[in-house]
Amino acid sequence: MFQGKRILLIIGGGIAGYKALELIRRIREQGGHVTPVLTQSGEKFVTPLSVSALAGEAVHRDLFDLTTEAEMGHIQLSRSADLVVVAPATADLMAKMAQGMANDLASTLLLATDTPVLIAPSMNVRMWEHPATQRNIATLKGDGISFVGPNEGHMACGEFGPGRLAEPDEIMAAIIRQLCTRQVLTGKRIIVTSGPTHEPIDPVRYIANRSSGAQGSALARALVALGAEVVFITGPATAAYPEGAQVVQVESARDMQTAVMQALPADAAIFAAAVADWHVRSASDRKLKKSKDGLPVLEFGENPDILRGVAQMTDGRPALVIGFAAETNDVVDYAIAKRLRKGCDWIVANDVSPNTGIMGGSENEVTLITEAGAESWPRMSKAEVADTLVAKIAHVLNGTKDEL
Ligand code: C5P
Repeated sequence: MFQGKRILLIIGGGIAGYKALELIRRIREQGGHVTPVLTQSGEKFVTPLSVSALAGEAVHRDLFDLTTEAEMGHIQLSRSADLVVVAPATADLMAKMAQGMANDLASTLLLATDTPVLIAPSMNVRMWEHPATQRNIATLKGDGISFVGPNEGHMACGEFGPGRLAEPDEIMAAIIRQLCTRQVLTGKRIIVTSGPTHEPIDPVRYIANRSSGAQGSALARALVALGAEVVFITGPATAAYPEGAQVVQVESARDMQTAVMQALPADAAIFAAAVADWHVRSASDRKLKKSKDGLPVLEFGENPDILRGVAQMTDGRPALVIGFAAETNDVVDYAIAKRLRKGCDWIVANDVSPNTGIMGGSENEVTLITEAGAESWPRMSKAEVADTLVAKIAHVLNGTKDEL
């Protein structure tokens, strides 16, 4: 989602510093670069080695590091980024920023930068509530600094209240809002279904499939990045949920259908979930026991076809209805037939044969089937497939090709 974007991440001291490591991983997963900076107190909580290993770049620690200065001066370092993120931001670092002090690398970079700055504070409740910190917050906001968090909750020091570092997914959502300024989907409501469904056999057993929900999450993230209001209806998936979307967790296909109908009306609906075709009609509300009378026989019932139902609505149908077709052979032919049978506008078809590594993997190779024909895309990451598809969705919903 932020292909090629550079984030200068300043990691201050704090027990929540470990969350910065998760943040680095997430930013890179989305195609962004992280240039890490560790403050002296930051080093007490996370090691330079773990930071640089995750970032894939050397960590900057010293203002007067001659090697770094020769390769990239601190002024250049502070300006080469698309966004500066401070997480965790300590009371001390915020005070320095508010005062315009520059007595170590982090504060110097923050004073020298002309790039937008997002800070995620983390400190003890009393420190957060202290009038001095509150004055600094007001000053920083006045200077145009953006904040994410802190959250309220139990703190490592045993107290309760505001001061907890925002969670990585909240910080990611804030970064997305900062970086993605082409909000061409603002005002558009889009439903995305994702993940597998679980069809119960009894209270502890179920029938499922291997879908991870990775492509659905990537699509929802790409839509959020362009400003869409996204309702993300997901079965029990293993992929991380998209930040900034309204998440509705469901279990079975029938639950998913109910959630989709409740989420309508929408401008577009994308059905990326791997929905089970059948449920166990004879599902028991008690755990099935072994019996001398032989093996249990499962009787199946057909699940509602959610995509077909929405695509064929006569009243209130979303302007764009998109289905996915996962096949293991004759992918394009089946997908063309599926588009007509389901009545949807587009089908995104892919080959999920085990040797492709697509189901549960991080890459995808798809063919987009529209009324105009079939368009095969090269193999790329699921995030890139999402960006490409979402750009096309934006063209259609805005009725123009000029906006992106
Ligand atoms: O018919 P098939 O399962 O191959 O169709 C796949 C497409 O239909 C996917 O977009 C999937 O999300 C959607 N689907 C659905 N409800 C079902 C079965 C599939 O929405 N019961």
